[in-house]
Amino acid sequence: METKKKGGFTSSIGFVFAAAGSAVGVGNIWRFPYLAARDGGGLFLLVYLILVLTFGFTLLTTDIALGRRTGKNAWEAFGSIRPRWGFLGKLTFLVPTMIMTYYSVIGGWVLNYATVYLTGRQHLAAEDGFFTSFITSQISPIVFMLIFLAMTAFVVYAGVEKGIEKFSSVVMPGLLVMIIAIACYSLTLSYTDADGVTRTGLQGLAVYLIPDFTGLTASRFLGILLDAMSQLFFSLSVSMGIMITYGSYVKKEVNLNRSIAQVEFFDTGVAFLAGMMIIPAIYVFSGTEGMASGPSLMFVSLPKVFASMGAAGTVVGIVFFLMVLFAALTSCVSIMETLVATCMNLFHKDRKTTSLGIFVFALVTAVIICLGYNVFYFEYTLPNGSTAQLLDIMDYISNSFLMPLISFLTAIFVGWVISPRWIEEEMEVNGEVFRKKKLYGFMVRYAVPVVMAVLFLQSTGLLGMILG
Ligand code: PHE
Repeated sequence: METKKKGGFTSSIGFVFAAAGSAVGVGNIWRFPYLAARDGGGLFLLVYLILVLTFGFTLLTTDIALGRRTGKNAWEAFGSIRPRWGFLGKLTFLVPTMIMTYYSVIGGWVLNYATVYLTGRQHLAAEDGFFTSFITSQISPIVFMLIFLAMTAFVVYAGVEKGIEKFSSVVMPGLLVMIIAIACYSLTLSYTDADGVTRTGLQGLAVYLIPDFTGLTASRFLGILLDAMSQLFFSLSVSMGIMITYGSYVKKEVNLNRSIAQVEFFDTGVAFLAGMMIIPAIYVFSGTEGMASGPSLMFVSLPKVFASMGAAGTVVGIVFFLMVLFAALTSCVSIMETLVATCMNLFHKDRKTTSLGIFVFALVTAVIICLGYNVFYFEYTLPNGSTAQLLDIMDYISNSFLMPLISFLTAIFVGWVISPRWIEEEMEVNGEVFRKKKLYGFMVRYAVPVVMAVLFLQSTGLLGMILG
């Protein structure tokens, strides 16, 4: 059998850890908390949860079932069902290729922070300008990226069972324990600032959990909705072929209904806990203004919070950045694995040679991205108004532009070309009950295409033009 030859997950829980390893990454620990903090905590949380249970569930189910039923990578999966739709596989393959160019750069940043804390230089990280001066320097971001990339390549090189499954099965449970410990610690914090105002972790928790509808306008709500939706794609690693690849490694006996629910639960749980660990801490030490800092929350604001915790802050800082490092590694592994698996098929080469080839590709492109902050520095305004360098442009094209487009096309393909039945059959292949069948059919035929079309127009700036 082909599946034997190419390797696969040995157990259902091994698959869940590996897929959760892909899903849980800097998206959960860095992106989710800053979006939640910026978008007012509770309301964002509520919107996100509803989207996970509807859109997240639909997209994840589609990818994994497509992968398992065809036993193929995205590149070939679509074309093997309907040859005319082969283009969609190639388009999908573009996303991990683009993400590969910059994910290891961010991994390198995280590795640098972990090293700073481990070597007792944590005061440096809390200084103003530390982050900017690091990423704009010419050599060290490249060195840290190289080490991170080499670690990733090593796991992929070791293969699916011995590399990915084993690594994820150790890292993921460990990550969960660490994150719960820091989240609980965060709630016990209390701080009195120079004005004599005391803020506690529990008050911070309330800001995070209780939706605040005051002053909510329709356009602000739409903004929150779009933030939550793009976060969902990125966080679940859907619509980029990765979950199709992992799905193709799953044994037929595995109950997909259960595994998919577990992956969703794990990913959302970690994001929720990451918010619970970061938001109260930021609130305690810098109030609600601190919460609005956006992308720099983890790299700039959080080290300051750790610094103000005294000795405990050093320990928490070490644990925190190590945890982010592992989460980033398992995600980067899944991106590289998708590229390697696809190229192994395309070029009929073995895993070792292909891993090496992809490693070289990733290295060259990542060096260019690193140099985007100095040698190749420029400022480009994206359709959404933010200023971008090379890294942000790659991120924007892959996450904001290609992913809605791919989800749209995939939903049309499943909903209207092959029919949702095709996916439902795979979900019930061992006689399981696909309980959310009705929801799935409705989502994939109507809700996903409509919402993705709107998101796509929005990301290209066309929506703004149409609405004037
Ligand atoms: N899902 C990962 C995260 O939350 C990111 C990721 C993106 C992983 C793309 C794989 C591919 O960080």
